[in-house]
Amino acid sequence: MNKLRERVGRLRPQRLLAGAAAVAVVGAGVSLISSGAAVAAPGCSVAYSANSWGSGFTASIDITNAGDPITSWTLEFDYAGNQAGGSAWGGTLTQTGKHVKIVNAAYNGSLATGAKTNVGFNGTYSGTNANPTSFTLNGVACNGGTNPSPTPTVEPTVEPTVEPTPQPGTHLDNPYAGAKWYVNPDWSAKAAAEPGGSAISNQPTAVWLDTIAAINAPAGSGYTTSLRGHLDNALAQNATLAQFVIYNLPGRDCAALASNGELGPTEINRYKTDYIDPIAAIQADPKYASIRIVNIVEIDSLPNLVTNAGSAAGSTEACRTMLANGNYSTGIAYALSKLRAAGSNTYNYIDAAHHGWLGWDSNFAPAATLFAETAKKATGGVNTVDGFITNTANYSALSEPFVKIGTTVNGTTVRQSKWLDWNQYTDELTFAQAFRNQLVSAGFNSNIGMLIDTSRNGWGGSARPTAASTSNDLNTFVDASRIDRRIHAGNWCNQSGAGIGERPKAAPASGIDAYTWIKPPGESDGSSSLIPTGPNNPGGKGFDRMCDPTYTGNDRNGNSLSGALPNAPVSGAWFSAQFRQLLANAHPAL
Ligand code: GLC
Repeated sequence: MNKLRERVGRLRPQRLLAGAAAVAVVGAGVSLISSGAAVAAPGCSVAYSANSWGSGFTASIDITNAGDPITSWTLEFDYAGNQAGGSAWGGTLTQTGKHVKIVNAAYNGSLATGAKTNVGFNGTYSGTNANPTSFTLNGVACNGGTNPSPTPTVEPTVEPTVEPTPQPGTHLDNPYAGAKWYVNPDWSAKAAAEPGGSAISNQPTAVWLDTIAAINAPAGSGYTTSLRGHLDNALAQNATLAQFVIYNLPGRDCAALASNGELGPTEINRYKTDYIDPIAAIQADPKYASIRIVNIVEIDSLPNLVTNAGSAAGSTEACRTMLANGNYSTGIAYALSKLRAAGSNTYNYIDAAHHGWLGWDSNFAPAATLFAETAKKATGGVNTVDGFITNTANYSALSEPFVKIGTTVNGTTVRQSKWLDWNQYTDELTFAQAFRNQLVSAGFNSNIGMLIDTSRNGWGGSARPTAASTSNDLNTFVDASRIDRRIHAGNWCNQSGAGIGERPKAAPASGIDAYTWIKPPGESDGSSSLIPTGPNNPGGKGFDRMCDPTYTGNDRNGNSLSGALPNAPVSGAWFSAQFRQLLANAHPAL
């Protein structure tokens, strides 16, 4: 499965996210004691800002500890309206009526005097969305307010904010919020069988419907559980969300060889009749109405038409064929129509590659335009699209704390480095948020949400930089400071050094519906050498040199070494050595 096609281009200034109204406030004071040392009385300053859209909003709260050092904190405030906060990033949010409590996350509980942290969340409201004006931190009034009456000794029991199961006919803005996500028992068992694997074996991962046989999993097909079987498992788990990857376009994966599909470039009728229609029919079963069925639609397809179907270096004849015959767009428009029509509990997220592919201006706007043109061909148009996903099965870092797009080295922008090669983005989160705005500009609804696959982009372990490099050499600075430690951002196959990333989480950041694990950790991206069709390659999958650790690359990865692990099995097969590496290099650490 190819992941990248980079382009060098002259770029406009980065698009800024929509501005937000902010409330600036002054912190509590500091008092002197006999020792003369300034010891801070407990206190805090809180700046709450929120930008609203339709019936939702994103809140961002800066908390500064103006008092003595603390090792944990609870922020509390009351809403004046009917705002309801969702799951937060930077803390754990619970709400009882209008009263909101946010308890620190593991990483930001300790705040020295003067230290600051940020929490945020997406929420819903109707009517007004007035910002709260008084806050307490650990029971002490912030912003110079008067301390509230002492809280009752018996804390009220706080029910977690779990959304009620949507009634048939309800289509949610963010299906991930408040849901119990299905854990695929087939993957879970493989993970749990690995040393230390139980640390993540209870995590939800997506089910890849990567052939027609995957739908019903007939005996001898190599598939353990059918689509209906997974949905029945989800009911048995009382899960209210399940994720499936729709991945079987004609001429699939046209710029790579490890994940080519079973349908030839012109088999669009089989795609419709033998693949999409039976999937839609199963998902339409009222038995599954309580499950928010998320369909991840066709990885690596439309992005390939943007960058690999012309005459540019790295383009392929296979992609040119799929552009010319229109079957990627036709297939996706059909999938969007039929899957969305299966029920109001189905949700479509289209693949949007990742920043190391579409982050250049030459690709960014054209991709959004192509996505919109494709969606408009669906019955229901852009209303069949709930969002987009980036970084599927890829390794791009979620955030690059030491290499921001505005970083300079000796006055030179890091965008000029070999690693960034003039890309407009340095990480996946800023790309996903900006690309969301571009997609809305291209015609998608303003409430679309982005997903980011964080299953293998953690880049933890002892090699992870803990501070920016002090080098004055541009490339040395960037290569020593970046979290993503690939040889080249175009490398996509079984990357050596990779680690488990952020755990699956709903509404982790503005515009992001979820961090999610679509590529199941431990499943190979492709074999390191050609494996003949047979017991170790039942589907006759191809061999892509990008999965060969000795390969010195091509135009799509700057003619760099592939960075792939040795001895890999075919794509989708269990790769124990990779799984163990991912555990060891997890970040946040396991
Ligand atoms: C790959 C394979 C597919 C597999 C998926 C998840 O791209 O082509 O067969 O199911 O990854 O591992």
